[in-house]
Amino acid sequence: MAGQREHWNSRSGFILATVGSAVGLGNIWRFPTAVVRNGGGAFLLLFLIIVLFIGVPMIIAELTLGRKSQKNLVSTFSTLAPGSKWWIVGLIGWAAVFIILSFYSVIAGWSLIYFLGSLLGFFSGLDTEGLTQAHNQIVGNPILPILGQAIFMVVTVIVVLYGVTKGIERWSKIFMPGIILILFVLLGRTLLLEGAAEGVLWFLRPDLDLINLNTALDAVGQVFFSFSLGMGAILTYGSYLSPRENIPQSAVLISLSDVIIALLMGLIVIPALFVFNVEPEVGPGIIFVTLPAIFNVLPGSMIWSSLFFLMLSFAALTSSVSLLEVVVAYFVDEKKWPRPAAAISLGILNFMLGVPSALSKGILSDQIILGMDILDSMDFFASNVLLPLGGLLTVIFLAWVWGTDKAMAEIIKGSPHFKWGKAWSFVIRFIIPVAIAYIFISGILG
Ligand code: PHE
Repeated sequence: MAGQREHWNSRSGFILATVGSAVGLGNIWRFPTAVVRNGGGAFLLLFLIIVLFIGVPMIIAELTLGRKSQKNLVSTFSTLAPGSKWWIVGLIGWAAVFIILSFYSVIAGWSLIYFLGSLLGFFSGLDTEGLTQAHNQIVGNPILPILGQAIFMVVTVIVVLYGVTKGIERWSKIFMPGIILILFVLLGRTLLLEGAAEGVLWFLRPDLDLINLNTALDAVGQVFFSFSLGMGAILTYGSYLSPRENIPQSAVLISLSDVIIALLMGLIVIPALFVFNVEPEVGPGIIFVTLPAIFNVLPGSMIWSSLFFLMLSFAALTSSVSLLEVVVAYFVDEKKWPRPAAAISLGILNFMLGVPSALSKGILSDQIILGMDILDSMDFFASNVLLPLGGLLTVIFLAWVWGTDKAMAEIIKGSPHFKWGKAWSFVIRFIIPVAIAYIFISGILG
């Protein structure tokens, strides 16, 4: 069977597509928001520790499982442990994918609206108060967010429809470099603003008193979300890999790119909050207020702003494509559905699930679950509950059911000198399960 499966055309195509899955709204929208919510440097420190001890080893774990099975998420478990009930982990992954995609396309839709709004000069010359008002009007509108969400979903479906190499790989190669370029321009401009240093310090200097289990759970959720872990996206991309691929090296590259982009965003958004006096209460909309404010002090603000939001939409696209691909791959592999039928029907279903989130900052804003509106609670439940749970079960499966020996045998096919293999096995068997279980259970109960 493996011979018939589509594979990445090139190493760079695989890396770019996987980086494309990892880098998206998670780094650009969610990371700065989480930093602000959790008090700055303390959160950053936790985030980096979790990246090192959980994020990187887990990318290796998922890529290895996928490459070994050459199958989609659900079938990976049933292939590697036939007759067991482990495929249920796949179902948790699906639930996470479906929920994340549903609100992800809403935020990506905002980004599309900001792209058009910038082109029309809608935000030019507004101060942060004006920008906050504009933001509330846009996301609170009963029609616009649904329209943005719908357009974004249609494009996602089209890319998935073309299949792995023609669709995903080609798009990722074009747009990832673009976004990095614009981020550097933004960074340069923010750091030159008077008063930026205070924000930089707040971001980089950890106040250890602010570290508690809730912050830790938020940081775990952020790493899982940002690295696309715990729900099978990385695993599915691994299943299109050939055995020649050096998995540990790829994992480091993917993680580094993801972390660097998140850090860049932190260094752009947080100083801007200080300089422009933006109230952190803006919450999830924070980047939609701070970034246009920075653009407005750049010459040619309209061009920068529209380019940025276009690129952001593309960064989101390479992620949403990987989300939809997780579910589509199952129906194509196992149920023999034609790819277009799977992509279109699942896209429509997911769009409908996302409509309440699209309305959650407007007519549905009084619907509060656990103190959060619909969109934020969907995000919390998927990122802080389902992803860590999916990730926990995945490592337990790899370490204690399938076995780290077999995993090592698979890894060294493409990486004969996997120097820190022993450390990796140890972390996968003991550190990660205990750490996630502890943070997860106490964070949820607390
Ligand atoms: N990692 C993506 C981002 O940071 C989001 C994502 C999560 C994509 C889970 C796939 C799976 O935007």
